[in-house]
Amino acid sequence: MSVPVAVFASGGGTNLQALLNHESSSAIWRVALVVSDRPDAGALDRARNAGRDATVVPVKGRDPDEVAGDTLHALADHGVEAILLAGYLRLVPTGIIRAYPRRILNIHPALLPAFGGKGMYGRRVHEAVVASGAKVSGATVHYVDEAYDTGTIFAQWPVPVHPNDDADALAARVLAVEHVLYPLAADHLMRAVADGRMPAPFEYPGDAFTLAQDAPAGELARQIRGAFRRR
Ligand code: GRF
Repeated sequence: MSVPVAVFASGGGTNLQALLNHESSSAIWRVALVVSDRPDAGALDRARNAGRDATVVPVKGRDPDEVAGDTLHALADHGVEAILLAGYLRLVPTGIIRAYPRRILNIHPALLPAFGGKGMYGRRVHEAVVASGAKVSGATVHYVDEAYDTGTIFAQWPVPVHPNDDADALAARVLAVEHVLYPLAADHLMRAVADGRMPAPFEYPGDAFTLAQDAPAGELARQIRGAFRRR
């Protein structure tokens, strides 16, 4: 039996789409429900197009306990065992974090702990990276706690910043990696959930940056999958 997973998204949902696309090759987990705080989120259309249940739980101006209550109700209705945040721009209420300990992941478009925290989302992240002169950025998958972007890191993959990059060019390069990294991270967590154990910590491969620069696109998944196996 595959692990029922909820994806929380506020935006267009390209990461949700990558998760939905990957799922067909993975018997380990499936997207049972998509939750959004915004009725106009593109992610909701992607969910419905894939024949999945989708629900809107408004957050703005509401008591977090009330939001948690509504959300937990929907999650229980779908038997959800783990949650993947994919462009979800709200803090996850304490009640949900307590109900899903070490079962909630987020993906962030930079190498945390750098370039994270409140207000660091979307284009702003990549603008800050380019302005800093950093030569490396990347994608981070981390456990979700009660603050923005501070949970324990689950997996990371580097992306080179080229000298002439603007925020959009960098965003596109990082997003392409997110779409490969996140589904494989989900596989890794859900295998552990299915077996009732903690997943082994991710070992950041020492040669990842070289691999990221030199690898042809199709090689990326193979490399990342290899890194997850090295435990
Ligand atoms: C991604 O860059 C993700 O890292 C961040 O929000 C963005 C969501 O994009 N948390 P999309 O909605 O999945 O296209």
